[in-house]
Amino acid sequence: MLKIAVLVGSLRQGSYSLQLANTMKERYINKLDLEIADIRSLPFFDQDIELNPPQVVTDLLRKVASADGVFFITPEYNWSVPGVLKNAIDWLSRVDKVLIGKPVLTAGVSPGMMGTIRCQQHLREILASPGLQVRLLPPAGNEIYISSAALKFDESTQRLVDESTLRTIDRVVEHFIDFARS
Ligand code: FNR
Repeated sequence: MLKIAVLVGSLRQGSYSLQLANTMKERYINKLDLEIADIRSLPFFDQDIELNPPQVVTDLLRKVASADGVFFITPEYNWSVPGVLKNAIDWLSRVDKVLIGKPVLTAGVSPGMMGTIRCQQHLREILASPGLQVRLLPPAGNEIYISSAALKFDESTQRLVDESTLRTIDRVVEHFIDFARS
């Protein structure tokens, strides 16, 4: 079973991105071991402490280093990547550069119409930079841009329930598993 570190770009308790991460964790339990990483307590990236970072940073780096792949599940903030996620990525880009060559899937949820397209475009550019150089699942045919979130998530269970979106994600996850194993 593939071990996947999941980085969620929202700290909000009722976050749709977190709801998607939890939906995927449960739905693919027989195929993937999804673990949501704690990025809430990371300090702002500081080059002065990168060689001797606090435990929370070391824990994240270890978690990602030991994973077979990474999922970035995020909202879009001001047409781009939320600062909390960019900060985690900056930590991951330095010293041991644990993301280099790591199979990566991006996904996002928005209550609006665009489903985080612009954010994920920025995210993919960032993930290609020299300290990151992830092995990105080719986005063509594998896009997870969830729009109009309020219509697709169940408020009481806090899970994605829209059948057509779930089927799309099923297909992308199968592609990711083949990709990560290849
Ligand atoms: C937003 N939101 C938003 N939505 C979007 O589709 N494109 C955008 O550029 C932005 N920009 C933006 C900036 C900031 C600072 C906030 C707080 C929000 C709305 C956003 O998609 C919405 O609040 C989501 O519900 C946030 O994601 P979570 O917390 O539900 O995962």
